[in-house]
Amino acid sequence: MSQEKDYSRYFTAPDLKQAKKRGKESIQVLQFNEIPPEMQQVGVGQKYMIQTYGCQMNEHDSETMAGILEQMGYEETTETSEADVILLNTCAIRENAEDKVFGGLGRLKALKLEKPNLVLGVCGCMSQEESVVNRILKSYQHVDMIFGTHNIHRLPHLLQNALYSKEMVIEVWSKEGDVIENLPKKRSDGLRAWVNIMYGCDKFCTYCIVPYTRGKERSRRPEDVLQEIRDLARLGYKEVTLLGQNVNAYGKDFEDMEYRFGDLMDDVRKIGIPRVRFTTSHPRDFDDHLVEVLGKGGNLVEHIHLPVQSGSSEVLKLMARKYDRERYLELVGKLKKAVPNVVLTTDIIVGFPGETDEQFEETLSLVKEVEYDSAFTFIYSPREGTPAAKMQDDVPMEVKKERLQRLNDALNEISLRKNEALRGQVVEVLVEGESKKNAEVLSGRTRTNKLVHFRGSKDLIGKMVQVKIEAPQTWILKGVLVDEEQSATPVA
Ligand code: 5AD
Ligand code: SF4
Repeated sequence: MSQEKDYSRYFTAPDLKQAKKRGKESIQVLQFNEIPPEMQQVGVGQKYMIQTYGCQMNEHDSETMAGILEQMGYEETTETSEADVILLNTCAIRENAEDKVFGGLGRLKALKLEKPNLVLGVCGCMSQEESVVNRILKSYQHVDMIFGTHNIHRLPHLLQNALYSKEMVIEVWSKEGDVIENLPKKRSDGLRAWVNIMYGCDKFCTYCIVPYTRGKERSRRPEDVLQEIRDLARLGYKEVTLLGQNVNAYGKDFEDMEYRFGDLMDDVRKIGIPRVRFTTSHPRDFDDHLVEVLGKGGNLVEHIHLPVQSGSSEVLKLMARKYDRERYLELVGKLKKAVPNVVLTTDIIVGFPGETDEQFEETLSLVKEVEYDSAFTFIYSPREGTPAAKMQDDVPMEVKKERLQRLNDALNEISLRKNEALRGQVVEVLVEGESKKNAEVLSGRTRTNKLVHFRGSKDLIGKMVQVKIEAPQTWILKGVLVDEEQSATPVA
């Protein structure tokens, strides 16, 4: 019976077709107001837990949700069994990401039966897909609440509804919202912080679900971004990562001024925070001004993540990446020239529909030509509703796996070779904490985001130190502390 029920009366369902539309209406900047006093007590004495899947954007959204829940009086727990509210912040980028979430949801059923008052919420990118919401309605009736990526600021109201309603509360907006400022945040790290600079993506690469789940490109106003970074610097943060699905499109949506990502980086450069990163860039919008600004160095680190996806111009065309192999290599050339010792990393998809052996070889040859320090590599995964999902996915899985293996082998060989070149060099390391495996060993990162392990006192955690690399490996650089006295002074 329940499957035939008409849910439309009490939920706003997602609609991928609607999400594809790009309207002309201007983006409004709205302020998140204080949570109403009656809601500030809702969670007192209760605990919450957020399980985050996927990218840094999701990690940061979870920090916002944590901030909101704490304003409602909830306290965080890492023990599933202790939680009164569990939110699954989901990722839709590939099928295996979705499988993990459904697996997690299945496991939570027993807990929900044991604890009927537990509120179980699903949010993030998967909530934006109608097929997912239908599957939850059909097979995961123990879920209490579903909301999407555009209405996180509505969490207090949605949670309150879920607490008092016997039905599943569903609110997913298929049309993106505005830019909401002043959202509370509970940052998970005291050293490194994420800062959103824009939301959404208008690129519509044919394989990608993100433009549908995250909506159209909307940039935060520069004064808001710069103020947030200044505040973080004042609080003692050592590093910020500017976040956007396509940071190079920053400012394209401003109607009142010409101010783009290069301008923003030039202004961020003047703020006294030691390290500034950004992710993720699209080669197409990476303009010369930005290259020039990155060349100025200072707090702008010499690491650029520049997803290429494929080394074949034909495949890039089918992917609708809007650049070809030559243009990508031209940009790489400019970056290598402008930014001394630049470290380039990338994302690559193997087994895109129709990818031939020759086209894959072109990817391998590009990897060798660029000499990436590392890369995220993926087997193509069809996403329902995207143009590529309608293309004939004719590369057998065995071939895809074999290509992935060959690609990773080539990348690892380059990583090791590049790390080997650092042997004997002294690098600046931001000390993050003890290494996972050995509490005697400290772990940190170079400006180029390479992991460094060395022995030293715990007092160094949170500081910039100089480490001499003695044993470079593919993933880790092992070294020794150089001059504690000098390196313990903060680097401006
Ligand atoms: N299949 C495989 N990989 C994908 N990515 C995005 N969509 C897909 C897909 N359908 C990869 C791209 C992107 C990274 C975040 O995920 O390489 O840059
Ligand atoms: Fe997806 Fe392409 Fe947008 Fe990146 S630029 S989020 S790969 S559509």
